[in-house]
Amino acid sequence: MQRTLIKTEDGSHSLYVNDLDEQYHSKHGAIQEGKHVFIEAGLKHVASHNNSPIRILEIGLGTGLNAFLTLIESEKLNLPIHYTALEAFPLELDLITELNYVECLNEERIKNKFIQIHSSDWEKEISLSELFCIHKIKGTLQEVQFDETYHLIYFDAFGPAVQPEMWTEEIFNKLYSALKPNGCLVTYCAKGEVKRTLKKVGFTVAALPGPPGKREMVRAIKT
Ligand SMILES: C[S@@+](CC[C@H](N)C(=O)[O-])C[C@H]1O[C@@H](n2cnc3c(N)ncnc32)[C@H](O)[C@@H]1O
Repeated sequence: MQRTLIKTEDGSHSLYVNDLDEQYHSKHGAIQEGKHVFIEAGLKHVASHNNSPIRILEIGLGTGLNAFLTLIESEKLNLPIHYTALEAFPLELDLITELNYVECLNEERIKNKFIQIHSSDWEKEISLSELFCIHKIKGTLQEVQFDETYHLIYFDAFGPAVQPEMWTEEIFNKLYSALKPNGCLVTYCAKGEVKRTLKKVGFTVAALPGPPGKREMVRAIKT
């Protein structure tokens, strides 16, 4: 998969995938989108309804931006987090070292943690801080079997127009089963078809205001 570094409107990097004609994040701002969809609408919502530690599953680790934002938030909230990240096509190290998230977030003091998100072993639980533990799984969502259940899923697949096989009833059933009761899934995509499929498998679906440049996003609760 050939990927090219691009800059989004908030100054933070994203990657453009030539084969799919798709990018990893909103062109309006990668950091802006990650904070809005996954941290504000996902993590903060779940943290206010659950006792810690919080177990998170990310579909598509990619650049590691959401993992890094979550690690930063675990410190701010003094919240223990166990973070499982699934990735089928890990990034090459030379691309990772070019990403400007550490400087955009002004987090030079924990630059090594961003690198460790990528350099840490797969299929192992690794503590990156006293509060944040990561478990990376290399494989596809279609094939993986989850041994754990999660409070929160960051569903950050490529869009349904270019990767429809990630947005099916079968996949959402699998993710529904992987959630704890009252667990929630957040995603940047609020297409009608996606909301209908989520409802069909049993989720209670809320369309929330999206990040700048996007009208809506989705938070789906396992009720
Ligand atoms: C929209 S990108 C988002 C990545 C990441 N969350 C980020 O902020 O950089 C989608 C990610 O899903 C991964 N992916 C694609 N197909 C997958 C599959 N079948 N199973 C697991 N991950 C997949 C891609 O390699 C890519 O890293």
